[in-house]
Amino acid sequence: MKSLLTVRDLGRSEVESLIASARTFRASLESREPVPRVLEGRTVANLFLEPSTRTRLSFDLAAQRLGAYVMTFNPGTSSVAKGESLRDTATTVAAIGVDILVVRHGEEGAPAAVAGWTGLPVINAGDGTNEHPTQALVDASTIVGHFGRTDGLRMLIVGDIAHSRVTGSLVHMMPLLGVDVTLVGPPPWQPTDSLLRTTTSLDDEIEGCDIVYLLRVQKERGGDISGDYVRDFQLDRRRLGLLRDRSVIMHAGPMNRGVEIGEDVAESPRSLILEQVRNGVPTRMAVLHALTAGTG
Ligand code: CP
Repeated sequence: MKSLLTVRDLGRSEVESLIASARTFRASLESREPVPRVLEGRTVANLFLEPSTRTRLSFDLAAQRLGAYVMTFNPGTSSVAKGESLRDTATTVAAIGVDILVVRHGEEGAPAAVAGWTGLPVINAGDGTNEHPTQALVDASTIVGHFGRTDGLRMLIVGDIAHSRVTGSLVHMMPLLGVDVTLVGPPPWQPTDSLLRTTTSLDDEIEGCDIVYLLRVQKERGGDISGDYVRDFQLDRRRLGLLRDRSVIMHAGPMNRGVEIGEDVAESPRSLILEQVRNGVPTRMAVLHALTAGTG
């Protein structure tokens, strides 16, 4: 693997190999065993031009755990604030001397453009409404860790589908792994071109699913919340009670409590939300390792 720009470039065996590697890294971190320092002497630059907590911090730690020097870029205190373009910023950071770039940007295709300009391996850490490949890998690893499999599971992806880059990656990766995905949301946020089943009724679907994957309503990208949205699509205590015993809740975070998820639903025993976060570092270690090894 040269770069990770889109999950569409990955086949099932590559995804399963990355999940297995992530599960191994997780076990090593939990038992405090040493991990191979495959990035010793290399430099990873985290070029985040949009806010992030989970993705940036977990890439920081993942690269450090593998022995890399880590440069973290703050757009607010960089020359971006003076109007420097993405291209000039990326080529400048590359010239300072880095081996791998991790890029988050508000425009679709920005990480791919950075890969083209710099010739460096680039990991897409979220580009506009397009994709968030490592989040989908984190989620797949979380599902395998909980259920022990992916084939035959039924997943509802609920809410602001139109603005969700997490969905942009999940809708390719989950069917690849044999997960049956249904998209649930209000008509303005439904895709017009998806081959997946879509519906506007959460209540009709919730009893038969294994995973309810809640999406953040993205106010910054035009997601507009009405009272009807909360009534029709929020996973509240009543809907939580309709789930089968084995069913779980997922959310990539950050959450809008009281909007897509009830105020205290994230603390339910069914919630895998913090488990997703726990899989962030080992999964990103697996991706960085695959890039270094040229396999994945
Ligand atoms: N899930 C996710 O991408 O979260 P952050 O924006 O905090 O990185």
